[in-house]
Amino acid sequence: MALLSDHRILVTGVLTDDSLAFGIAKRALEEGATIALSGFGRGTSITRRTAKKLGDVGEIIELDVTSPEQIAVAVDEVTSRFGRLDGLVHAIGYAPPSCLGAGMFAAPFEDVSIAMHASTYSLAALVGAFRSLLQKSEAHGGASVVALDFDSSRAYPMYDWMGVMKAGLESLGRYLAREVGPDHIRVNMLAAGPLRTMAAKSIPGFSLFEDTWDERAPLGWDVHDASAVADTAVALLSPLLRATTASIIHVDGGAHAMG
Ligand SMILES: NC(=O)c1ccc[n+]([C@@H]2O[C@H](COP(=O)([O-])OP(=O)(O)OC[C@H]3O[C@@H](n4cnc5c(N)ncnc54)[C@H](O)[C@@H]3O)[C@@H](O)[C@H]2O)c1
Repeated sequence: MALLSDHRILVTGVLTDDSLAFGIAKRALEEGATIALSGFGRGTSITRRTAKKLGDVGEIIELDVTSPEQIAVAVDEVTSRFGRLDGLVHAIGYAPPSCLGAGMFAAPFEDVSIAMHASTYSLAALVGAFRSLLQKSEAHGGASVVALDFDSSRAYPMYDWMGVMKAGLESLGRYLAREVGPDHIRVNMLAAGPLRTMAAKSIPGFSLFEDTWDERAPLGWDVHDASAVADTAVALLSPLLRATTASIIHVDGGAHAMG
């Protein structure tokens, strides 16, 4: 039987076919899932175009995670489409330019708070809003929330405030896991190594990551190959990892653990 048969999954964060969420959606479909995709603002038309490469995934749900109104409409839409939710993929990150590559003293708090709202708080906003649908999951082991993360145990060059947002996301994931675990909802982080996506290109000096990651990773690392991220997300969404929650699963060739 396919790993995600009978799973109904909402995947956020598909923009282009380089998006990590695109690879995850594609693999989830191959494993028998029924998926819904959300798009953000003006990018929604790009998401619509990208989604055609996945086959029939229904109408793209417009969802700005910083808008409580749009979150409420998205919940109504998923309720009428699916009636329950077995998986939720949070693949969303945004920080104003002052937060990336300019050091820690350039960004005013207003910019940091924008980054926090979109990149960190949004996970709590989504899990809270979709909780009643996730509680209704019929999957063996319950529903699974997967959030895309970048190792926050170290300070990386140029990543600056986004690193702080990811540290917050990791902590938030643990607190959410504690709270929704009794509802049979698990919450895990998938900490990916650097991959060439639209978001990555917006990080000045991204090549600093590219150049060193492959050398530091004992397994090596290819910034153009996101297939292991997609496979791992599918495993996390599936009953195979039904006893795993509040965890950070690193998919980075092992680089994060090397001295
Ligand atoms: N690419 C990498 O190297 C890498 C590594 C580790 C983790 N990640 C994480 O993976 C996730 C996905 O990023 P990606 O690299 O696939 O890039 P991407 O640019 O393809 O995806 C980022 C997504 O965030 C969405 N987004 C931004 N603000 C939003 C908002 N207010 N509401 C809803 N959606 C919003 C964008 O529309 C886009 O779809 C991010 O959390 C990112 O930090 C990326």
